[in-house]
Amino acid sequence: MSSGFWAVVPAAGIGERMQSDRPKQYLQLEDKLVIEHTLQRLASHPEIKGIVIAVAQEDGWWPTVSIDVSCPLYVVNGGKQRSYSVLKALDKLSTLVTDDPWVLVHDAARPCIRQEDINRLLSMLSKHDVGGLLGIPVNDTVKRTGDDNVILETIERQNLWRASTPQMFRLVLLKSALETSMEQNITVTDEASAIEFAGFEPVMVEGHSDNIKITVSTDLALAQLFMQQQRGEC
Ligand code: C5P
Repeated sequence: MSSGFWAVVPAAGIGERMQSDRPKQYLQLEDKLVIEHTLQRLASHPEIKGIVIAVAQEDGWWPTVSIDVSCPLYVVNGGKQRSYSVLKALDKLSTLVTDDPWVLVHDAARPCIRQEDINRLLSMLSKHDVGGLLGIPVNDTVKRTGDDNVILETIERQNLWRASTPQMFRLVLLKSALETSMEQNITVTDEASAIEFAGFEPVMVEGHSDNIKITVSTDLALAQLFMQQQRGEC
């Protein structure tokens, strides 16, 4: 087994909920595009050996972006769902390595990821048998409703988490877990779900709540505020 770490960045989404003229990863955030922040933050981590990014096949924006990162960057075409995009990137990574590195899968749309959260993930999980992910404990009271919005139940929030990324697993395990979930038509919205479906128990590692996923237009202003806070400007 290798002790190396690679990053995989699914960036093939079209970001329908953003209602902008371009996919959300190509929106301007301070001095750079969202995707540039994300890639630079991953690439500047000293343990990350390289990045494989999945972009949409018909993506006209990617070729116009000049990405300046300090580690090798490989590009593949993504798929119709996030998990397909991740799998295509893992397929590429398999051709680049001869061992079984840890892979940190991180959404292109999470540009505020902190080095200290990556450090925490690595230090908590690099000796673990399975791996895990960053998450944030749920603070709000959580309700489940029917389709008519009538409340069916209030869910005990103790031990409830919002899953975020990076999600860190060994290449071989993650690839086979995603392949299995696809063969069995199981919809997985994150890597941990595929690992859980395969019968393993990933670990939740608490991260900072500023690692938001840009989803709706107000998230951009929030991300800008978080970046200023991270620099100690407010
Ligand atoms: O749509 P959502 O916000 O859940 O997407 C999370 C991440 O997955 C984004 O970085 C997006 O670009 C990526 N994605 C992808 N391939 C898809 C759909 C989403 O790489 N088919």
